[in-house]
Amino acid sequence: YAANKPFLPFLFVNTKIYSAIYTMSASVVILGIESSCDETAAAVCIDGQIRSNIIATQAIHEQYGGVVPELASRAHMQNILPVVQQAMQQAGVGMAQLSGIAFTQAPGLIGALLVGASFAKSLALALQKPLLAVHHMQAHVLANLINQPAPAFPFLCLTVSGGHTQIVLCHSPLHLEVLGETLDDAAGEAFDKSAKLLGLPYPGGPLMDKYAQQGNAVFTFAEPQITGLNFSFSGLKTSVLYFLQAQQKTNPRFVEENLTNLCASIQHTIVTILLKKLKVAAKQTGITRVCLAGGVSANSGLRRAFLALGTQQGWQTFIPAFEYCTDNAAMIAITGYYQYLDNRYAPLSVSPTARAAFHA
Ligand code: KG4
Ligand code: ZN
Repeated sequence: YAANKPFLPFLFVNTKIYSAIYTMSASVVILGIESSCDETAAAVCIDGQIRSNIIATQAIHEQYGGVVPELASRAHMQNILPVVQQAMQQAGVGMAQLSGIAFTQAPGLIGALLVGASFAKSLALALQKPLLAVHHMQAHVLANLINQPAPAFPFLCLTVSGGHTQIVLCHSPLHLEVLGETLDDAAGEAFDKSAKLLGLPYPGGPLMDKYAQQGNAVFTFAEPQITGLNFSFSGLKTSVLYFLQAQQKTNPRFVEENLTNLCASIQHTIVTILLKKLKVAAKQTGITRVCLAGGVSANSGLRRAFLALGTQQGWQTFIPAFEYCTDNAAMIAITGYYQYLDNRYAPLSVSPTARAAFHA
């Protein structure tokens, strides 16, 4: 640094301190806060680069077989301050250096969202800094901009999470268009609900992935007949349920004896449904830059099949690093960064909402 600024030694300034002050004053420093479901997370983004990404996972929900909203809100209240402090510390920035505070405004569990929103608003008010209200599903898509090389615009993104399944056309960071989405269950729900039928604990998605790797897709389940780019997954769970009931009549140990093959078969069906529609979307739009996003993009079967399809179709493919696929605050911080650059500040009167379309 000093070599580029030869005048500095003559100013008798400690170059290290000067460098830090100079960098900070010229930089856009965004704190991101995520609390939409059962992860309390905070991250710091400086000029589009992620400098810290802290997540406190709430293990308490496992014993109930799903997320208990009231318990999630309480855990967020306990976790939020230490998580934010750790994110700031790891990034090496102080509160005064923040340019803006980004938080998940929608969609999610309303009580959980309220904790992050109240915290972010208080901080913005106390520091007199801009507040940036981020849409969680937009942030999942923009997680693809964190790693390099990032996709150039426009690109397509298949976002698959526990609550949503969407094919999104991204014209620019702040202009996203939903081309298709699920009419009922999300892909993550299809994994978790099918896993539950197999007796696996919540969340079943990662476990189904693990067992599927040791099995073969020898059983077939009906695929939904939905026209256009929308999805449906509620029929799959019923199809799995009836299949298991029929098999268990003659062999009560059927699930136990066929667990890995059942997992591989269910996973194969979900992945096939997802990628068929993605292929149609790419054909319809003529776009060949294609991304994955959301918690289910951590699935090894989906990643492998997506990359293989990309090679076959001549796509440029992108998948965020594992820690940016599942819920995290780095994606909130990077989305907040783009909103900050566009002066899209939220008023202090902004409220979280459980359901919402992308911010216009
Ligand atoms: O994006 P995410 O972390 O939270 C939401 O916004 O919903 O996604 C969570 C979902 C859960 O349904 C979980 O079972 C699923 O992602 N998931 C997986 C895997 N890892 C997480 N599903 C299948 N295979 C995985 N490896
Ligand atoms: Zn999510």
